[in-house]
Amino acid sequence: MFNGHPRFWGYITSSATPIGALADFLASAINQNTGAFILSPLATEIEAQTIRGLAELIGFPRTCGGLLVSGGNVANFVCFLAARQAKANWDIKHEGLSANRPRLTVYVSQATHTWINKASELFGMGADSVRWIETDANQQINIDALERQILADRDKGVLPFMIVGTAGTVGVGAVDPLPEIAALCKQYGLWFHVNGAYGAPAACLPEVSEKYLKAARCKP
Ligand SMILES: Cc1ncc(COP(=O)(O)O)c(C=O)c1O
Repeated sequence: MFNGHPRFWGYITSSATPIGALADFLASAINQNTGAFILSPLATEIEAQTIRGLAELIGFPRTCGGLLVSGGNVANFVCFLAARQAKANWDIKHEGLSANRPRLTVYVSQATHTWINKASELFGMGADSVRWIETDANQQINIDALERQILADRDKGVLPFMIVGTAGTVGVGAVDPLPEIAALCKQYGLWFHVNGAYGAPAACLPEVSEKYLKAARCKP
């Protein structure tokens, strides 16, 4: 594919940049192991600095944490595991998943990228732990249906732990109603995950409404 062609609208991948080509060249040439600070202090600092720069670009506090990973799937996997660890009401890291524990459930819209199928299967929860909530005419998650499903699940004794809001669906670039999702997460004690693989950079545009930025911003 000629991604750099001005009329290339086929997919997300944009044209290359000269500075990116140079950086890739340098990275390949020195082939650092970034597994720990001591293995490559300079690359670790570059990572930390890049995360601070990205945070600033999209209106996050520079003090937030972050990691550079290989792409959107892995970034979502890491957040999924963080959410599960934080919200399971037992020591899931040591005890794992078992029949004696309530089923953990995650809420996503029907327009969510397939990373969620992979995460639920890879991390042993099973595809039935994903609740696919209907979308409206704009491909955004239906908030009423979402809340109804959470309440129904709580009544059945399963343990809702996370809602996924997508900032830029892979099909049409729809942004879920993030402030409403954030409010539901607060109300029911759930982890609020925003998948910005496609659309997060839009948050740096001045015309993006303040309400989206406020919803997506983490606490310093
Ligand atoms: C919304 C969304 N999430 C996740 C991904 C997966 O990203 P990657 O292909 O970098 O693993 C994509 C890629 O198209 C995406 O658009």
